[in-house]
Amino acid sequence: MLNQQEITQLFKETRTDSELICSFLKTEDYVVQPVEYVSPPKWHLGHTTWFFEEFILKKYAEDHQLFDEHTAYVFNSYYESVGEKVIRTDRGNLSRPSVEWIYDFRRYVTDKILELLETQELSAEALGVMEIGCHHEKQHQELLYYDIKYILGNNPLFPKYNDQFRENPIEDFPKKWIEIPEDVYEIGHKTNDFSYDNELGVHKVYLQDYKISNKLVTNAEFLEFIEDGGYEKVLLWHAEGWDWVNQNNIRSPLYWHKIGQSWHQYTLNGLVPLIGEAPVTHISYYEAFAFAQWKGMRLPTEQEWEIAQKYFEWGSRWEWTESAYSPYPNYQKADGALGEYNGKFMVNQKVLRGASVATSRDHQRYTYRNFFHAPLRWHFNGLRLAQ
Ligand code: AVJ
Ligand code: FE
Repeated sequence: MLNQQEITQLFKETRTDSELICSFLKTEDYVVQPVEYVSPPKWHLGHTTWFFEEFILKKYAEDHQLFDEHTAYVFNSYYESVGEKVIRTDRGNLSRPSVEWIYDFRRYVTDKILELLETQELSAEALGVMEIGCHHEKQHQELLYYDIKYILGNNPLFPKYNDQFRENPIEDFPKKWIEIPEDVYEIGHKTNDFSYDNELGVHKVYLQDYKISNKLVTNAEFLEFIEDGGYEKVLLWHAEGWDWVNQNNIRSPLYWHKIGQSWHQYTLNGLVPLIGEAPVTHISYYEAFAFAQWKGMRLPTEQEWEIAQKYFEWGSRWEWTESAYSPYPNYQKADGALGEYNGKFMVNQKVLRGASVATSRDHQRYTYRNFFHAPLRWHFNGLRLAQ
């Protein structure tokens, strides 16, 4: 548990980081919503601010004056118990409130929170919500990278975001199989450091002997799958995956482009020749599964991943696992509106473990359970084989 001073520090850094991420954008980049699951950057900046106003200032600051009484409708994402909200697909139609207005909103709420932290001793409960608010904003920082990449990477001119962002670190060490013996193992978040509710409820699981790779699958390996006709071999795919591949005419990971005879990939640094040694990314769960089938192997379960992680490096790609996103045996969702944060999404999604090049450095834990629907692939994901 962080004390009030530490929370203040975390809050300041978090607020600044979101604005740094957006400092490379042009105003027009902030507004568009090319597909339903991509939100306009300005919406992320407003939504994370709304979160602090809704869950902290309204509740813990005396006589708080809302910056604007209509904003809740626009910036509430999915909290049904908080009130009405704009439908998700309409986020890109919001030319107003303007980007400038949203920065004013941010400044107003940031200042009010800092004032609160300076003048009042907050309860443990309030500090807990502040910590969630900061980690919530860090999740949106990661989503900002995905969404910015999607917005720029689907522009026919392939504009780059900047030259600094490193999204393709290479795992420059020999491949080997890590062998884990069968046993009963303990799963879940144990320390007093921050975690989400979905990681809590330490419990035991039995794991059979398994082997897991110390390296992620690379672009060069994935290219072999493509060249061997992996996307055309029905027997490698789930029924849903096969329909998805054919209905959307998928023949490569997202952001791959064949120009003449040579493969290129769009990165936040612009369009570059495919980097063979880099870990593959932007594949759906269906593609991860089909690749593993083609290799005669499988994806690890989230429990296998958690137990083996201390023997390999991780953190550049969210790794698809075979596990369904379900509650742990002792799962208890938070009270009130924050109970809507994680629990209600525990259906029809897959767990991803690790972290990515877009994850804030103090937002990484080996017990972290990220989750996405099987066909989504605009996040920085990847795949590690098991057998
Ligand atoms: C955990 C990434 C699936 O995108 O909805 C943002 C993160 N939770 N605001 C999502 C999240 C609340 C969440 N994912
Ligand atoms: Fe959110």
